[in-house]
Amino acid sequence: MNKTLIVNRELCTQLLSIKECIPAMRDTLIAATKGEIKMLQRQMIPHEGGNMLALMPASLLSKNVTGSKVIIFPGPETKKTRTNQGVVPLFDTVTGALLAIVDAELITVVRTAATSAAATDVLARKDASSVAILGAGNQGKAHAEAMTYIRDIKTVYVWDMFPAAVEAAVEHLKAKLPGVEIIACETAEQAVKDADIVCTVTAMKADAPFLKGEWLKEGAHVNAVGACSGNAREIETSVVKRCKIYYDWEEAAMRDAGDLAIPMRNGEVTMDDFMGEVGSVMLDKLEGRVNEQEITLFETIGISVEDIAAAYQIYEKAKEQNLGVWLEI
Ligand SMILES: NC(=O)c1ccc[n+]([C@@H]2O[C@H](COP(=O)([O-])OP(=O)(O)OC[C@H]3O[C@@H](n4cnc5c(N)ncnc54)[C@H](O)[C@@H]3O)[C@@H](O)[C@H]2O)c1
Repeated sequence: MNKTLIVNRELCTQLLSIKECIPAMRDTLIAATKGEIKMLQRQMIPHEGGNMLALMPASLLSKNVTGSKVIIFPGPETKKTRTNQGVVPLFDTVTGALLAIVDAELITVVRTAATSAAATDVLARKDASSVAILGAGNQGKAHAEAMTYIRDIKTVYVWDMFPAAVEAAVEHLKAKLPGVEIIACETAEQAVKDADIVCTVTAMKADAPFLKGEWLKEGAHVNAVGACSGNAREIETSVVKRCKIYYDWEEAAMRDAGDLAIPMRNGEVTMDDFMGEVGSVMLDKLEGRVNEQEITLFETIGISVEDIAAAYQIYEKAKEQNLGVWLEI
């Protein structure tokens, strides 16, 4: 019987940093585009009260690991609690051994921000120095931090529908990013109009887009992160029409990214209006930004192989540093 390494949330915090995760997510986006992964589309079971069980299975063939993020997308009541709501069991594809069980919550926050940073790094202007964060929650804070690792960020504009969320995020970011000017904004337009990089990271569950194409500065880059179902969107069709659009994985983006799927269903755009997977840009097989004026957009709903790659990074580091608890399951 083999032993399994258990890594809890606290230890994940110690072992997985956004900065170190960026190159791993770049490799993962490339592997996804090259077909060096196996991945099933996300499956969900909805429950009364809003909790949804989500299963996100994938294999990272270069590391011989497979597994699934198993997580609750919390409804309103669950959001009030601090219970553990997800794990990633990680298996060896060759021996079948259960190598590790890793907390999923931190992985989700870190890998998402790191993925946006990896995409921004290939798409945004090299001199981008300001970021707008629309949605001042966990992803908003992590995205602000992540952008500072790939560009010399001098200003972060923060907006949220709840002023208290803006206040809390501003306080957090002032402590986390000394030397960066953090500005609270009263409207989304105010946050966006001077920003070189725009991250939409609200908990949007409806077709109620708030970001308008005409607000975007020439040469900006947008990371559209928060609308993760085919029926939800944060960005108006005017944004889709004004930007060069890239995504993480075509199959998932066409199904679960309402930002793109809704205007397609409405007949306002077609697949031909989108560039393709950002992994192809990283591989120099697809045109990225070609001048300082065009506006690029990375649409991400998050793919399961990112979770497996992040869990594997944690597993390797925990083993190296002799941390975590080994159990016979
Ligand atoms: N693309 C991905 O890979 C990925 C991964 C994880 C989470 N997400 C999504 O990112 C979003 C944010 O996650 P989080 O963990 O930061 O959530 P969170 O609850 O910590 O923060 C969300 C913030 O958005 C604000 N908000 C909600 N609706 C808004 C609206 N219409 N306009 C303005 N602000 C609004 C809330 O007040 C809150 O401050 C969620 O929708 C989540 O599903 C995406």
